[in-house]
Amino acid sequence: MHRRIIVPSALAASLLLAIPASAADYVPGAPGIGDSYYPASGNGGYDVSHYDLRLKYQPATDLLEGTATILARTTQNLSRFNLDLGLKASEVRVDGRLAKFTATGDHELEIVPAVPLPKNKQVTVVVRYAGKPSEFKVDGWSAWHRTPDGGVAAQEPDSAAWWFPSNDHPRDKATFDVSVSVPDGTQAISNGVLQSQSSRLGWTRFNWRSNKPQATYLATLAVGKFDITTDTTANGLPVLNAYSKDLGDNAGAARASIERTAEVAEWLEGVFGPYPFNALGGYVPNVTSGYALETQTRPFYSPRQFANGANVSVVVHELAHQWYGDSVSVRDWKDIWVNEGFARYSQWLWSEKEGEGTAQELADYVYATRTAEDPFWTVRPGDPGPDDQFHIAVYDRGALALQALRNEIGDEDFFAILKGWPQRFAHGNARVADFVRYAEEVSGRPLAALFDTWLYQPAKPAAGPSPATAQ
Ligand code: ARG
Ligand code: ZN
Repeated sequence: MHRRIIVPSALAASLLLAIPASAADYVPGAPGIGDSYYPASGNGGYDVSHYDLRLKYQPATDLLEGTATILARTTQNLSRFNLDLGLKASEVRVDGRLAKFTATGDHELEIVPAVPLPKNKQVTVVVRYAGKPSEFKVDGWSAWHRTPDGGVAAQEPDSAAWWFPSNDHPRDKATFDVSVSVPDGTQAISNGVLQSQSSRLGWTRFNWRSNKPQATYLATLAVGKFDITTDTTANGLPVLNAYSKDLGDNAGAARASIERTAEVAEWLEGVFGPYPFNALGGYVPNVTSGYALETQTRPFYSPRQFANGANVSVVVHELAHQWYGDSVSVRDWKDIWVNEGFARYSQWLWSEKEGEGTAQELADYVYATRTAEDPFWTVRPGDPGPDDQFHIAVYDRGALALQALRNEIGDEDFFAILKGWPQRFAHGNARVADFVRYAEEVSGRPLAALFDTWLYQPAKPAAGPSPATAQ
């Protein structure tokens, strides 16, 4: 016999409110955030506010294992969502409940929470994972540098998937606590302030905190044997530099450059305004690759940057990125000029101050030495394409664009813009078009044609970036 349960209509209405109208309202989060160059980078449907990473790394075997606790807020009703991770997850919990998960594609972790997630919910995702970062490759390519005494995660545009699960795109920044346990006698270096370090049972744990929004590719981890120097700036910021014990003949030049970090940052504050973060420093691991990277608060420098003696210019470049790239980040990877054009131009300003050639002289030199046939001019710094994202033209032609701007609007407005922009978009994201609009606003002049010539035309401009001749 069936009994019908009669539900009073007011109660029925409230039940309808509490229960999702239908499962169809809950849809999967996109497997990419919508980047024009890297469609798989980042994910849709949520926004991360904080990463807490508790890790252990064994240099002898390259085994990294641990737990990531991710605080996020949903931006849509979610039936499932993705994280970007190249290592292997063994357990995932969403708000305490075990979740189903599958590794798909290149480095996607697809997570189905036990209960669908409504829009605007604060969620806590816990991922247990492990793996050998050097074994994870994308198209034969790796962001992980294995060294004789450890390993380093530092690359652009991606490096996070080699060491932690994330929403891997500069558009979703978050604060970071990174705690890493390594065998006694070995160090683990990361971003921000070293809150504490302690040893027990043969392992030393290093606790790092980066307390301002940080893009995932700017989070770094370096494990190895380092000599560490510490100091405090005149403004009270902690400085911590780390030099691999294995730098050979480059050790002196590395120190003679990076120990000048506080001096360079102070000079940059005069140009760009207040330093945006809670710590300063740099580190030089014993890697074989040659580049440097503006990892937040603590840039990564290859030893090869110091093969010819001190190289303060690269320190200027990576520290300039703390304002232009790290605090104000690209909205989309095609906006790379808002990072590299300015970091290069800051090197020209440093040269000008040091009496080694003014920015105008350096711009004229680039313009004169790059012939019209040089493929340099076919790269469009305003949208170079993924294959040419770090082409020398993005840097040098990008800086030429700024010299052209300086001559067009004069020093007063130009330097007001250099200082105003990091304030306007502090700890956020911006596009090339945002810069053009901002420069027009400050200078009160139409600048579209100038930027089109210097950033978007695939040809050498007919005239160099020289001061306008007086009428
Ligand atoms: N943003 C870095 C710099 O200019 C570029 C790193 C490019 N990566 C590379 N493998 N070249 O300092
Ligand atoms: Zn750069």
